[in-house]
Amino acid sequence: MAKQKLKRFAEFATMPNTFDFAHQLKGKWNTEVFKNNNPIVLELGCGKGEYTLALAHLYPNKNFIGIDIKSNRMWVGAKKALEQNQMNIAFLRIVLHKIHEFFEAGEVSEIWITFPDPFVRIRSAKHRLTHPRFLQLYKQILHPEGLINFKTDSDELFSFTQIMLSKIGIEPILVETDVHGNPNAEPLLKNVRTYYENLFSAKGKKIKFMKFSLLNLSTDHITKFEEWFEAERKKLVALGHSTGI
Ligand SMILES: C[S@@+](CC[C@H](N)C(=O)[O-])C[C@H]1O[C@@H](n2cnc3c(N)ncnc32)[C@H](O)[C@@H]1O
Repeated sequence: MAKQKLKRFAEFATMPNTFDFAHQLKGKWNTEVFKNNNPIVLELGCGKGEYTLALAHLYPNKNFIGIDIKSNRMWVGAKKALEQNQMNIAFLRIVLHKIHEFFEAGEVSEIWITFPDPFVRIRSAKHRLTHPRFLQLYKQILHPEGLINFKTDSDELFSFTQIMLSKIGIEPILVETDVHGNPNAEPLLKNVRTYYENLFSAKGKKIKFMKFSLLNLSTDHITKFEEWFEAERKKLVALGHSTGI
């Protein structure tokens, strides 16, 4: 591991706004960390926490937790938050398929999934952060009225998410297929941009956004989706494709 990475890794463990696999905080984020009763918003796969920082600045009456497995990346956001005295921010290092072990049912008010790795290969589909297996976990911790906000440059992941939601009977509340090309898109979506978002936009990639609820998510729907996905996978693999859904 590079020297800087090791240094950040070690520092992450000692910062007051960072938490490493903090099982003890399940159900206690507001009482133990933020010391208030404000709604909790998560950014999943937050990287350097740019979105978390920007949202925390815009919404001082909400508490933000950036989550990622890479502490050297979150170190950047955690350090900035401390320098800016931004007290409504924390960073949590975990693997996201264990997220339900770190939050109590209904403890989370809103989730942002920003520019996740698209995992376009069919065999990696289960790692996509909008895969129903993840949605089931998010539902366990999300308040019934809570919403998922998903922003991406990836046509493949966006299309997968749209098809998957229609298969599981969820109608998105908002869909934007070109956030920066639509003068009427929500200012929040246009104005808060990460490093990657600027990079992809500059390369002519359209930034896409979707907002949806998990209220109607059911295990029956997910089983049907998995049957459909398996049938599609078999067809594509028989044709020699490794991507396509
Ligand atoms: C492409 S980066 C995007 C970072 C940031 N959201 C942005 O827009 O700049 C995806 C991030 O998700 C994290 N990630 C992906 N899958 C994860 C998982 N299963 N558990 C924890 N972190 C994950 C990676 O470590 C990486 O930092």
